[in-house]
Amino acid sequence: MPIDNKRSGPDGAVVKMVKDLDEISRTAAVMIVRQSNETGSSAKPFTIALSGGSTPRRLHERLGREPSVRASLPWEKCHFFWGDERHVPPDHSQSNYRMARETLFASAPVPAQNIHRVHAEESDAAAAAERYEHELRSFFNLGPGQLPRFDCILLGIGADGHTASLFPGTNALQETRRLVVANWIEKFQTHRITLTAPVLNNAALVIFLVSGKDKAEVLKEILEGDFRPQLLPAQLIRPVQGKLLWLVDQAAAGCLTDSIKV
Ligand code: 6PG
Repeated sequence: MPIDNKRSGPDGAVVKMVKDLDEISRTAAVMIVRQSNETGSSAKPFTIALSGGSTPRRLHERLGREPSVRASLPWEKCHFFWGDERHVPPDHSQSNYRMARETLFASAPVPAQNIHRVHAEESDAAAAAERYEHELRSFFNLGPGQLPRFDCILLGIGADGHTASLFPGTNALQETRRLVVANWIEKFQTHRITLTAPVLNNAALVIFLVSGKDKAEVLKEILEGDFRPQLLPAQLIRPVQGKLLWLVDQAAAGCLTDSIKV
């Protein structure tokens, strides 16, 4: 199904409003298949960073179970990473890895070595972040000062304007050198391990998945309000040389002006 009739948001971002979460999941699956077919030579890995939270669950299920989508993805060359992870073991109910294992890897034929989870069971969150950064540097064969370029990064937003685990007013927002940090989240009294903004902004394609009325106010602030990234960290996401797509459903788009909606 052609993905057309979009509107442009700030900085050339494309904002596509669809009916509901099912439609977000279906559209995102089509985008991911297309992007995986654009990575050129068949030998080159297709690298995708998954988002946590609940919104991506249906997309994950579609990727692994929808026959036409499942048959279109080059699973052997797909490498899965995470944009962020909670500081919990992989079998914890809050683990983003566990959510993906249950909703995607349970049905998709992903080779185990293609799953690059954050070892968030490590008691020292900073050590978990360092280990994940080391894995990125090694996988992407990075030299000093180089950034990984993911083919696709999936993101969500919280009602407070956070994305990945870049929360308002937290130290990670200032990070310009590290690829991964352990970010202390005061309101949760815990660390979260997160990719930093420079890594997110180096992706070839970033897709925000935003569903539900509870996101309508903050989405309007992010897309149409003043640029206040300390308060609305999702505004930091402006891919330097990549595409930015906001896939939003009608409920989440409820406060947007018509000019930015499909
Ligand atoms: C996480 C996510 C986070 C998430 C938003 C939206 O670890 O929770 O990475 O950034 O995308 O909080 O979460 P929902 O999809 O559950 O609304």
